[in-house]
Amino acid sequence: MARLEWIPALAVGNAEIDEEHKTLFALINKLDDLRMSEMGRRELRDVADELAKYVHVHFTHEESLFTAKGYPGAAGHIEEHRAFIGKVAEFHARIIGGDPKIAGEMANYLRTWLSRHIAMSDRKYRPWLADQAKGN
Ligand SMILES: [Fe+2]
Ligand SMILES: [Fe+2]
Repeated sequence: MARLEWIPALAVGNAEIDEEHKTLFALINKLDDLRMSEMGRRELRDVADELAKYVHVHFTHEESLFTAKGYPGAAGHIEEHRAFIGKVAEFHARIIGGDPKIAGEMANYLRTWLSRHIAMSDRKYRPWLADQAKGN
């Protein structure tokens, strides 16, 4: 599976959000590395825990920008986040439950979903965010 790599074309116009996206990419790559190296279940669980928590941190941050400034696309975007959180929780529970083989499937799903979400949905708020910064 190809590694996730953040490229400037994925920038949303907010340096902190971009850094969070990079951290998420790094965590997903780590999950995939652990699967490949067949390292201990404990470490795999730690990365899955960290990912589940960090997804919350990042989504909460994005959503707080939407609600603070009234992003018109907020409802649909938040719905996408909710669906993803449900899926992450499902994978996470299976890893905790001792199904390490699921790590590959989890890394694959996260990778596809997140790259698509950033490229399509997160990038969509970029012009709105830029307008906010100008005080419009
Ligand atoms: Fe995002
Ligand atoms: Fe998002």
